[in-house]
Amino acid sequence: MEVKTDLAEKLAKETALQQHYVEELKAEVEKLKARLGHVPTCHVTTFGCQMNARDSEKLLGILLAAGYEETESEEADFVIYNTCTVRDNADQRVYGRLGVLKGFKNKNKEMKIGICGCMTQEQVVIDKLKKSYPFVDLIFGTHNLYKFPQLMCDLLASGGPIMDIWKDTDITVEDLPVCRKYSYKSGINIMYGCDKFCTYCIVPYVRGRERSRDKDAILNEIRSLAADGVKEIMLLGQNVNSYGKNLPDKTTFAQLLAATEEIEGIERIRFMTPHPKDFSDDVIEVMKGSEKICKHIHLPLQSGSSPILKRMNRSYDKEKYLDLALKIRSELPDVAITTDIIVGFPGETMADVEETIDVIRKVEYDNAFTFQYSKREGTPAARFPDQVDPVLMQEGFDLVLEEVQKMARKRTALLQGKTELALVEEINDHDPSLVTGRLSNNTIVHFKGDASLIGEIVPVSLDVCQGFYYLGTRQ
Ligand code: 5AD
Ligand code: SF4
Repeated sequence: MEVKTDLAEKLAKETALQQHYVEELKAEVEKLKARLGHVPTCHVTTFGCQMNARDSEKLLGILLAAGYEETESEEADFVIYNTCTVRDNADQRVYGRLGVLKGFKNKNKEMKIGICGCMTQEQVVIDKLKKSYPFVDLIFGTHNLYKFPQLMCDLLASGGPIMDIWKDTDITVEDLPVCRKYSYKSGINIMYGCDKFCTYCIVPYVRGRERSRDKDAILNEIRSLAADGVKEIMLLGQNVNSYGKNLPDKTTFAQLLAATEEIEGIERIRFMTPHPKDFSDDVIEVMKGSEKICKHIHLPLQSGSSPILKRMNRSYDKEKYLDLALKIRSELPDVAITTDIIVGFPGETMADVEETIDVIRKVEYDNAFTFQYSKREGTPAARFPDQVDPVLMQEGFDLVLEEVQKMARKRTALLQGKTELALVEEINDHDPSLVTGRLSNNTIVHFKGDASLIGEIVPVSLDVCQGFYYLGTRQ
């Protein structure tokens, strides 16, 4: 109890402090505006997952509250990269684009560049930034993102550079401004960090230990999102079905889902990402009786080979995974199952790849993200001696992708001719006479409509299957 009270007090103090810094930052932005002769512009660029997208909404919310104006272009007075480091190509994209930002900064002497997120939690990245990218003005990590108002204030007052990286944290301040990208849907963090330590994965090192948010705090946030017109929420965590394990009242993920269902105004509930090991029957039961939980489960497989899964430290084998996936298929027949697959993990042979393909055929995934294994320094697998030859990795990848696409086409085609509810998300990128909607099971449908439909949930007939998506008609 003592510890909890201390933490609550610390949280309240830190929240008040950062809210104070938002006010201070307003004054700094006013001074900057006077120097520039215009309202300072800002741009937040997000790399990576939904967790990062949600963090970016917090960064932008604070910048806008302080008086910055958002701009589409990275030729802005303040640009911040919220980075991902799950695979090496994400790192390389950031380095490449920082080079472009340097050119903009040469033209605009008042420009400030920030970098935060998962990459900056790695010492190798910090060393490289210091050595090769000294023009970066502000560097902070994942654990102190909530300190952004204070760090921005210091940056504008001192001119920088400023670097503040923490190894871990026991609190996360939530009551700060947020600018949601979409009016009708929102992510909501239910937990931070990951304790699973899959041997290929850098996430536990850069996001820290698992911490669940208090259930009432989450439900209150969802209630206020609903009051603000949000219809669809996505409960976010690296490992959502471990939710509550470290809470004093041991609330389970199934209980959290059931409580969310009760919130008026929320029409759709999604969650990302469950771990197959902790996916319990009570979640299936809640989904069965739910009107709002979307008919989609993302269930990362990673590999279909039991020996490889063991070396990945995934805590399940091929049979256990198949039992779970096939149970979901039989208990929740209209739920789409999607997955993540890694090809080319150290020691993987073509026989292992065949095992993965066998699972793909048996589960018939509705969709899958397929990745080539990327060696992440500091993870156990990076030290495994039997790294896979890139040519073989590509070969395995192509085979897996082909099978995944075959299954996704087959599953998508099953909806042909049906009428389903779609949440309209945006005007179609290629044809402005169309809008793009998302079905409960995550399938995309394009149909005639205009901007007034954005955020509405409407019935649409699924007329023409185009492989992985539909062309439809509003009913
Ligand atoms: N190499 C390739 N893919 C990876 N992922 C995580 N770490 C790696 C890595 N080192 C993939 C996993 C995970 C998804 C978010 O990213 O499939 O589920
Ligand atoms: Fe990474 Fe495994 Fe945690 Fe997912 S469960 S974030 S793959 S360590």
